[in-house]
Amino acid sequence: MTLISSRALPRLAGPLLALACLTGGSAVAQGNYPTHAISLVVPFSAGGPTDVVARSLGAAMAKTLGQSIIIENRTGAGGTLAAMHVARAAPDGYTFLIHHNGMATAPALYRKPPFNPLTDFSYVGQVADVPMTLLGRKDLPPGNMAEFIQYARANGNKINLANAGLGAVSQLCGMLLQESLGVQFTTVPYAGTAPALTALLGGQVDVLCDQTTQTIPHIKGQRVKLYGVTTLDRIKALPDAPTLQEGGLKGFEVKVWHGVYAPKGTPPEVIAKFNEALRAALKDPAFTQKMAELGAEIVPEAKQTPEGLRTWLQSEVDKWGPIIRKAGVYAD
Ligand code: MLT
Repeated sequence: MTLISSRALPRLAGPLLALACLTGGSAVAQGNYPTHAISLVVPFSAGGPTDVVARSLGAAMAKTLGQSIIIENRTGAGGTLAAMHVARAAPDGYTFLIHHNGMATAPALYRKPPFNPLTDFSYVGQVADVPMTLLGRKDLPPGNMAEFIQYARANGNKINLANAGLGAVSQLCGMLLQESLGVQFTTVPYAGTAPALTALLGGQVDVLCDQTTQTIPHIKGQRVKLYGVTTLDRIKALPDAPTLQEGGLKGFEVKVWHGVYAPKGTPPEVIAKFNEALRAALKDPAFTQKMAELGAEIVPEAKQTPEGLRTWLQSEVDKWGPIIRKAGVYAD
């Protein structure tokens, strides 16, 4: 029996990966991809806003693919661990990543970025844009945004702001909020905004900026205080909710966008098949209705393509880099 020592594994990894690609490629060329379930990695907790989009999308895409999409929640480091996992996975068409703006902010947030979003992946397409909402715990004293601004300036770091870690959009939104108000809150990070919202509902933290895909049911159930939405205009799903801009933060805007990625080197035939399923899902009435109810807007067709995602990602890397560097927020 031949034993392979663990020291030999790194040397063998390249050829084995190449063999896996060839095998995967020929299966695709035979037109029988996918032959088994596909993993879609979500960088945050189950039940949170990214997970909600991923599970609905996976169910709709499975109709076209004829195979299940299994959601794999890999939390940690504001989404970075999941992105690294997918960047290093076999490019065989059975591992994909759904991620948001965090893909574009990571290069500026990390002193030594652990992956390069622009070179370490293959691109499938964008999914939907999601507004965020600024929430307080139900018994937080301010009743509206104007009062919140005064309260925030008077109480500063006595206020606990929950987020999902450096690289999460809840962190990005909170960072912009503190900068706009000229205050510093005490930040409390969680593995996703699902546990962060649970903490807000339980009164363990005071404030959370989070996506409508998770917050709308709690806003409608009046279990949290809503101070405003982070889009420049009001949104259809919450027509009575003022924007933060109306509340006094001129020009305040954070919109969350989602893309689907594969490990670099995934065969083009696989990407084409997965993209076809993605585009079909973005027209699926069950998916589109659920997204509309949760405030999410399906992206236009030009963004649903690999080129559409890659071009958008580049523009977001260019946009957020200077803002984050100016704010001086870094992780090692
Ligand atoms: C989540 O799914 O938990 C959120 O997208 C995390 C975040 O705020 O980015």
